[in-house]
Amino acid sequence: MAIVWYPDTREFHLRNDFISYVIALLPDSSPALAYFGKPLALDGRYSRLVRFEARALSTHQKGLPPSFCLDFVSREYPTYGRGDFRFPAVELETEEGFPLVLDLHYKDHRVISGKPEPSGLPATYCESEGEAETLVLLLEDRAEQIEVELFYTLFAAHPILARRAAIRNNSGRALRLTRAYSASLDLDSPNWDLIHFSGAWARERHLVRQPIAPGVQGVGSLRGSSSAQHNPSAMLARPDCTETAGEAYGAILVYSGNFSIDVEVGSHGDTRLGLGINPFHFSWLLAPGDSFETPEALVGYTAQGFGELSLHYHELLGRRLVRGQWRDRERPILINNWEATYFHFDEQKLLEIARSAKDLGIELFVLDDGWFGQRNDDTSSLGDWEVNREKLPHGIEGLAGSITQMGLSFGLWVEPEMVSPDSNLYRTHPDWVVGSPLAKQTLGRNQLVLDMTRPEVVDYLYETLSRILSSAPISYIKWDMNRHMTEPVSAALAPDRQGEFFHRYILGLYSLYRRLTRSFPQVLFESCSAGGNRFDAGLLSFTPQAWTSDDSDAIERLPIQWGTSFFYPPSSMGAHVSAVPNHQVGRITPLWTRAGVAFFGAFGYELDPLKLSDTELEEIRQQIAFYKVWRRVFQFGSFYRLSGSPAVDDNLVAWMSVSQDKRRAVVLVVQVLAHPNPGFRRLPLRGLSPEQSYQVKVIPAVPVKNEASIRFNEGLRRGDELLQVGLLLGGDGWNGVSRGDFTSWLFTLEA
Ligand code: GLA
Repeated sequence: MAIVWYPDTREFHLRNDFISYVIALLPDSSPALAYFGKPLALDGRYSRLVRFEARALSTHQKGLPPSFCLDFVSREYPTYGRGDFRFPAVELETEEGFPLVLDLHYKDHRVISGKPEPSGLPATYCESEGEAETLVLLLEDRAEQIEVELFYTLFAAHPILARRAAIRNNSGRALRLTRAYSASLDLDSPNWDLIHFSGAWARERHLVRQPIAPGVQGVGSLRGSSSAQHNPSAMLARPDCTETAGEAYGAILVYSGNFSIDVEVGSHGDTRLGLGINPFHFSWLLAPGDSFETPEALVGYTAQGFGELSLHYHELLGRRLVRGQWRDRERPILINNWEATYFHFDEQKLLEIARSAKDLGIELFVLDDGWFGQRNDDTSSLGDWEVNREKLPHGIEGLAGSITQMGLSFGLWVEPEMVSPDSNLYRTHPDWVVGSPLAKQTLGRNQLVLDMTRPEVVDYLYETLSRILSSAPISYIKWDMNRHMTEPVSAALAPDRQGEFFHRYILGLYSLYRRLTRSFPQVLFESCSAGGNRFDAGLLSFTPQAWTSDDSDAIERLPIQWGTSFFYPPSSMGAHVSAVPNHQVGRITPLWTRAGVAFFGAFGYELDPLKLSDTELEEIRQQIAFYKVWRRVFQFGSFYRLSGSPAVDDNLVAWMSVSQDKRRAVVLVVQVLAHPNPGFRRLPLRGLSPEQSYQVKVIPAVPVKNEASIRFNEGLRRGDELLQVGLLLGGDGWNGVSRGDFTSWLFTLEA
């Protein structure tokens, strides 16, 4: 790994074993991207790769050659108004609204070993200085007295750069920042597919792949959270890029609020990718001497297909973004009472569930919504974090005490950022909600949002949550957030600072999380937002796992977990087995299929065990015993998507995880619909060691007589054969033997 400055050719070369990233200074001294791809020889001769020339209708700056036209150049942190007509990375104006036309020229640079921490925002980190090196490029507009620092951290072990910017106002007057992207990436070809992850409640992060076209396209959020509608992550992949071959660039924001990912295809074969805080409804007042730090963006490259890029993002997010004691620890198998009881429970019912769960081998009992105030439905009590003694006469302390005495850990649901209009908190502090109390109010799930831009609200929530966490042996918190934001203003902010509302909200949220995770380092936090409405890298820095979706149906979970796995590691995905008919879609799936899908994540159950038959309980007991043996592979193994890309064949979905030492692996194959008389199919595996021999075993979700998956696959098989040929699927369907729909097979491989 090296970051080298070549003064003769005025270029920087950032290089590790996976990538080269070359930044060259242009004739006006602004930085351009000369190259981002497979490693090139460490040399200072690549600045000539940046091309520009005079064309009809092109413009050039006075004093520079006419050939120097910014509109075609691959710029590192573009500004608008000097001949580049594509969207910029940064915009500033005076307090009165007079736009600044910025020239950001090279002023200085430094190379730091390791990675400097941003202030107030979550970010990736290093554990030793040798893990990463950082280039800090200082740019300046001398006339306007603006400085921009661009941070590029290169990790030795990944084809990924952590990028962010800090914008400083050195002029003697106040300025307003109206756009501040984290990174901009100008590629020299228009030939890409945009891959992004979109959906809605209960169908989050479905993969979307579309060829890009001239003009601007992209995704974003204006909802106050990263959202279920679009995720702050995307890839640009060559049209022929697959899981295993081809070029792709990835970009993910370490941020939980309004974001924007834009792609602009220019008219000369160029593509610009920009990402950062959504500029809509954003502005930030920069007093003289103030600076603004953008969230971090993680920008990666692969020539080996997006499967390879996913592996690196999993490692980086899982091991150098997630923090704290739980980062590398196996996550407990939990039972959550939400789908078992909804709001209707009492202590006795919960203890019965817990006892049965303990008997099955479950490790953590989680009490969901409904334990506080008068919360018997979703119309009241958010904000009143006092236990409901009618339901729980011995309080949380008594319940948690009884449950921990059984040998289970205890976890609790909270939704701290919210308040019900029907609550004591709202009656006492109507001024604490987002929006002006005198103005219009829009409800979401009957609730309002607390104004996290106010330090007194954050302090109050810190005190309240600390009190709850200190009152009982609580080792897990599910932190929910069940609405999008409306009337996005804060009564606590001056009129000229209302554009800061959304970002300040997220900064308040992060500061609360930071304080709590520092004070209660033993607690495992799981974030949730009506399922996966805030499944993002910003929160992952504080909460090692997130509830992936309220949709717990195994078949619905296939595209959800598939899309989520492009950037986020399995250990971050809360995944539970629920009852049938499934509560979201009414589907009936085999119990082993439900478990098989949920195994590839932070595993648990979300059902009432007292309503299950003895056969089902016995199956669950087996599942839990099985998961305990394979948990580290499921949660922390290398994860590969094998088959079932929504774009190719989503009837047969297969994925696998391989232990770090490649000696153990698990493969899941789900057949969505049954078809008669199927053909044979080979499923090549990945990540195994070719020289190793593996003992293959299979657990069919619905075994049949003379089971083909056993006949074809069980036994000792060499890694090379498993990689080249793979598992053999099909059979059994010709003679009327039918397992029905939604069946699956779980294969284990042991060296
Ligand atoms: C949200 C969560 C669910 C559950 C309910 C409780 O919808 O996603 O898992 O906690 O809230 O109200």
